[in-house]
Amino acid sequence: MAANSDAIAFRSALGAFTTGVTIVTTRDGAGVDCGLTANSFNSVSLDPPMVLWSLARTSQSMDAFRGASHFAVHILAADQEALSNGFAKRGADKFAGLQIERGASDVPLLTGCTARFQCRTAYQYEGGDHIIFVGEVIAFDHEDRGPLLFHGGRYALAARKAAMLTACDTGAQPAGSFGEDFLGYLLGRAHFQLYGRMQKSLSEHHLDATDHFILSVLGINDGRTAAEIEGVIGYTGAHITPDRIASLAARGIVRTDPTDRLWLTGTGRRTLVELAAAAKAAEEDALGAFDENETALLKHLLKHVIRSTDPGLPDPWAAQETP
Ligand SMILES: Cc1cc2nc3c(=O)[nH]c(=O)nc-3n(C[C@H](O)[C@H](O)[C@H](O)COP(=O)(O)O)c2cc1C
Repeated sequence: MAANSDAIAFRSALGAFTTGVTIVTTRDGAGVDCGLTANSFNSVSLDPPMVLWSLARTSQSMDAFRGASHFAVHILAADQEALSNGFAKRGADKFAGLQIERGASDVPLLTGCTARFQCRTAYQYEGGDHIIFVGEVIAFDHEDRGPLLFHGGRYALAARKAAMLTACDTGAQPAGSFGEDFLGYLLGRAHFQLYGRMQKSLSEHHLDATDHFILSVLGINDGRTAAEIEGVIGYTGAHITPDRIASLAARGIVRTDPTDRLWLTGTGRRTLVELAAAAKAAEEDALGAFDENETALLKHLLKHVIRSTDPGLPDPWAAQETP
């Protein structure tokens, strides 16, 4: 490809093909572990079982793979992005601190992956600026974990189309009216319905949603003032009145100290644990139709919406200095 712009366009067009992400490892003649991130992996043959991947001629691992009798391909799980980035760096000691198992010919095997294929190097082919390695699979293992994807030069997560389609299946809306796909409606309705599942538990403790927010914020970082708590839950529009604090204190759920900081009592902590169990059960019911990967994707996208609409509220999970 002559012009540089053509090469960039070619790369970008290739990026339209969504792939998984693998790490390919081997051990060189001197007994040094080598490996790199690769998405050129593909299946070749079922009988005999064969796979391929290609390695850039510029790779520092080239001599190791060319001379290796065996290599291993690890298909990465959705939560292994950091591992992928670590093995996409040149020269670094990529295996430092990792839990390693040993496969055929002492090839290093990584853990926590979706699938692993141990291969005997069967063929090597010239492939332009890459060398194509074809491996005969001599052993493999597989765990049911959501995969890490690569699309358009970025990491991505997989979601089953049927589930997403059902969620997005909307008809045309008359102009000026809110449709079923209006984000505010979707978020609001999902919130109220999910929270509605918790009402029973809140009522049993004679608490309302604002009380629950207060206990939750103290559960993350105890010993905050009412104003600090109100800052953190500002997005709810709730106001923490002195009467509300007095009521929580009278019921032995929180106590205030001379500097007007609020602390959870033993009763308060127990109440919070029971409410957390109810919240967890409501969450599990709500997400029952999703697999682990879709759940991660949904939460990831919601966090994105929260960030893009944040008016600058304090982070409830930020560590604060103990007063
Ligand atoms: C998602 C992703 C996929 C990659 N796929 C390949 C590939 O298929 N072949 C390749 O040679 N390099 C690929 N790379 C680049 C190598 O991981 C990177 O150049 C690495 O530094 C090579 O390490 P080495 O020089 O120590 O062998 C990929 C990188 C990323 C992030």
